[in-house]
Amino acid sequence: MRKRIKQRSNGAVAVRTILAVLVILAAAAGVYIYSGVYDIGADDHHTRPVAGLLQVLRERSIEAHSGDIKVPALDDPQLILKGAGQYAAMCTDCHLAPGKADSEIRPGLYPQPPDLSRQHLDPRDEFWVIKHGIKMSAMPAWGFSHDDATIWSMVAFLQKLPGMTPAQYQDIVARAPPDDDMEMGAKTGHSDEHAAAADAAGPAVAGTQGMSLSAGAAPGQAAASSAAEAPLPPAELKPQAVPLAEAAAQAFQTALQKGDRAAALALLAPDATIREDGHAQTREAYAAGHLAADIALLKDAQITQVTQGSMSMGDIAVVGSERDITATVKGKPVTVRSRELLDLRQFGTDWKIVSIQRQSAPVAGQ
Ligand code: HEC
Repeated sequence: MRKRIKQRSNGAVAVRTILAVLVILAAAAGVYIYSGVYDIGADDHHTRPVAGLLQVLRERSIEAHSGDIKVPALDDPQLILKGAGQYAAMCTDCHLAPGKADSEIRPGLYPQPPDLSRQHLDPRDEFWVIKHGIKMSAMPAWGFSHDDATIWSMVAFLQKLPGMTPAQYQDIVARAPPDDDMEMGAKTGHSDEHAAAADAAGPAVAGTQGMSLSAGAAPGQAAASSAAEAPLPPAELKPQAVPLAEAAAQAFQTALQKGDRAAALALLAPDATIREDGHAQTREAYAAGHLAADIALLKDAQITQVTQGSMSMGDIAVVGSERDITATVKGKPVTVRSRELLDLRQFGTDWKIVSIQRQSAPVAGQ
């Protein structure tokens, strides 16, 4: 009996001691935090034990939260293409890309964002991190501004990114659909040089909307087009790098100018996509609609070639060109600069166009 009482009091002493130690530790932590001694600067790094602890916390948390996520099919080329556009628009300053080794923001970030062009991750983890972000790091929660389908497109692209060459990366980004959110930004932001040109053009722009090369578009469509989507010809394009592809591109342009529908259509591959001022169409839709509008516009127009160049990328050749097109709109001559990026592939001995991206903007000073 006495023994038991003694044991109990021993136990009580131990509990009291532990509590006292905890209180002292908490007080010490409070004093330490409040004193301001801790360096919160991102240029001062965690000690190794703290960094290790945070690493485990982060990995376990992501794993535990992403476990139940169901991964949809990620091999759809359209999905991957969409993700490429999203990634290029929003992620490369922090996560880099093939051919992009650094950025202004990256050296100062702590923790350092991983180079996602060099590391392969589980799609569920990627989805969860992109949607929810990571606390106390620069990784934002993109779920606030993007739906799940868009986030999956980024994951689909990230599954293909490691191992891409800079040329392959540039090509897929050039063919990607525009980032819709950027488009909204561009409408109010005017961050693009074309938008600046449009500003400079002043009131005349209203009249030129209808004469961009998508002249056949419904009024709503024309208004939705945005100068920010202009396919800038990649810097590696060299005149006559792929002469036969350039000849085919030129033949297509000549056919349009001459109004030769059959010749123009013969140069388009069966699965070709035509994207004018941001609106994608199949070959059939183009043949039924915009083709006639393009021909009508070019018929009496004066066309000056500004630049043309090409490059070879596996079995695809890319031909980029810029032209100034002067046509009469509502009785007044108006000049737009048309930028065009064609992807061509060889069918037997002939080069055919598999993709057209075209964007036109008024030439400044009008
Ligand atoms: C402002 C910088 C910044 C931007 C922009 C950014 N991230 Fe991050 N991201 C980070 C940082 C920092 C981390 C690492 C956080 C950590 O480990 O605590 C990270 C982590 C990640 C991870 C997890 C990597 C891993 O090893 O587990 C993925 C996936 C990711 N980001 C995808 C994206 C995508 C996709 C975008 C564009 C939509 C994007 N990030 C934009 C900073 C950024």
